[in-house]
Amino acid sequence: MPLFSEEFLEELSQRNDIVDVVSGYVNLTRRSGANQFGLCPFHGEKTPSFAVNSEKQIYHCFGCGKGGSVINFIMEIENLSFPDAVRFLAKRAGMEVPESGHDENRGRRTRMLELNRDAARFFYEQLIAPSGQAGQAYVAQRGITSMVKPFGLGFAPDTWESLTRAMTAKGYTRQELIDAGLARVGKSGSLYDYFRNRLMFPVIDVRGSVIGFSGRILGDGEPKYLNSPDTLVYSKSHSLFALNLAKKSKCGYILLAEGNIDVVSLHQAGFDSAVASLGTSLTGEQARLLARYTSEIVIAYDSDAAGRKASDRAISILQPLDMKIKVLTIPGAKDPDEFIQKNGPQAFRDIIEGSGNQIEYRLAQIQEGLDLSTDQGRVAYLKQSAKLIAALPGSVEREVYGARAAEKASVSKEAFLGEVSRIRKQNASAARKQRNKEASAPLRHAQPQSRALRYENVPSARAEEGVINLLCRFPEQFSDLPLREEDFTSPALGQLYGAITRRLKERKAISMAALGEQFTPEEMALLSGILQHDEITAAASEQAMADYIKRIQKEKDRSAPPEDLRGYAEKMRQTKGYGGNDGK
Ligand code: UTP
Ligand code: MN
Repeated sequence: MPLFSEEFLEELSQRNDIVDVVSGYVNLTRRSGANQFGLCPFHGEKTPSFAVNSEKQIYHCFGCGKGGSVINFIMEIENLSFPDAVRFLAKRAGMEVPESGHDENRGRRTRMLELNRDAARFFYEQLIAPSGQAGQAYVAQRGITSMVKPFGLGFAPDTWESLTRAMTAKGYTRQELIDAGLARVGKSGSLYDYFRNRLMFPVIDVRGSVIGFSGRILGDGEPKYLNSPDTLVYSKSHSLFALNLAKKSKCGYILLAEGNIDVVSLHQAGFDSAVASLGTSLTGEQARLLARYTSEIVIAYDSDAAGRKASDRAISILQPLDMKIKVLTIPGAKDPDEFIQKNGPQAFRDIIEGSGNQIEYRLAQIQEGLDLSTDQGRVAYLKQSAKLIAALPGSVEREVYGARAAEKASVSKEAFLGEVSRIRKQNASAARKQRNKEASAPLRHAQPQSRALRYENVPSARAEEGVINLLCRFPEQFSDLPLREEDFTSPALGQLYGAITRRLKERKAISMAALGEQFTPEEMALLSGILQHDEITAAASEQAMADYIKRIQKEKDRSAPPEDLRGYAEKMRQTKGYGGNDGK
């Protein structure tokens, strides 16, 4: 049941012009027809492949594939659900939101948050009770006893159903426990606790709600951590552990660590701005969440190879958000926790203060494997560092670090910056070519960016995309196409087709806003990508449509015994002249 009326969503879209809205976040620097381009806020890039189309009121990134309506844009960039993005835009445009009152999920969400809070309380009580001795011993061994209360740490007992029983007694249903990821269904059909014999870290969002859990095994064993699955209230890739505490810090930066234990240990040592991503490497969503609370990030990942790689990745995600980034190297310890346990807080503070920014860090990394006393080493250093510096967006930064790298490689600053500008030109022209190629190819990517939407039959899916493109662009030219949803090999495309044809039948315009309520952001991104194409003109559209339909039939015949689709096609051929060559 849609939450908002069509009329309201239409007005909302009209009052929030996508170019205006996006301009608040993205610097749109180049225009090409109805498209304006800027650097994509959703992935790291140096040349703009993020397009906003004022005519179609959609955005689409040719690099990462994100796209959709103005509402999808706000969902993505502000990390909001569809209804919350609608409320956000309504506020922006000074509109009243007609709340229809049956936001069914809202009630379920509230219940789930209550259940999570009760579960966190239960785990906490289990930890401090005499029976929680195993948990207490582990907390003491890790030296984080004073953090039990501020973090609300807990203990999941070594039994199969203590949480389930306690929560059931409080009136939560079986389904509620399963949906919250706290219990599972066993072979016999009865529930068992998902978290058992683990130290529990509640994940608390910035509003103070318990949204999920992370449970560490006491001691060694696999898996070391068990995490809540994504639920109605929890998305790991959109959340950060301890951000609820870190957001209150006055220190001016956020410390990004890898492990939950590191975070707890850092807070205990007085670094009250530490957070960690939750069992994933830093995602774009998490980076944007960070950007709302700080403009400086200090990365304190583990000192092993994996930690370094994760640092590089985090830098490339944070850099486009215009954040100041420092990267710590932690000497003589595997992670911040171990370092602090060994050397104390002051030594860690010294590392933070003495550490360079990410460019220095990367330059040092380039230098690491090279011998700068040889010509060969200097040339290699020059090449790699010029590439790094060419990618910096600011000209002042390029000057400063260029001079430094030139000195290291023993060449003049002018020669070095000459090389940098050569690389920049090369990058820009490669990006331009790529864009042109992407914009002119009938289909840019053989596959949608989202793995969940992968095409099984690419030739058919291409034609299916074509059908959708033409239907949206020239709706008045097509009615009663001989295609049903089931004829589509891609379920997502089939559903889009179904929704679009239903709207056309009801004589409704194809509203991206209305479709956005029904389809996932990934599906909307797929649609926005399809709509970016306008190679086929109105004059050529009937022929193109006929070809697409033929292609879909052919692929269908190939994979299944000939079926009724043929009959439809025959009928169409007689009545409407679809049918490619033989119709003429
Ligand atoms: P670590 O193995 O570094 O964990 O994994 P840690 O928290 O520092 O724990 P100690 O110090 O070894 O006891 C880093 C993070 O990766 C996620 C957890 O969020 C963890 O905090 N992780 C790790 C998992 O989700 N599952 C795992 O099995 C392991
Ligand atoms: Mn660790």
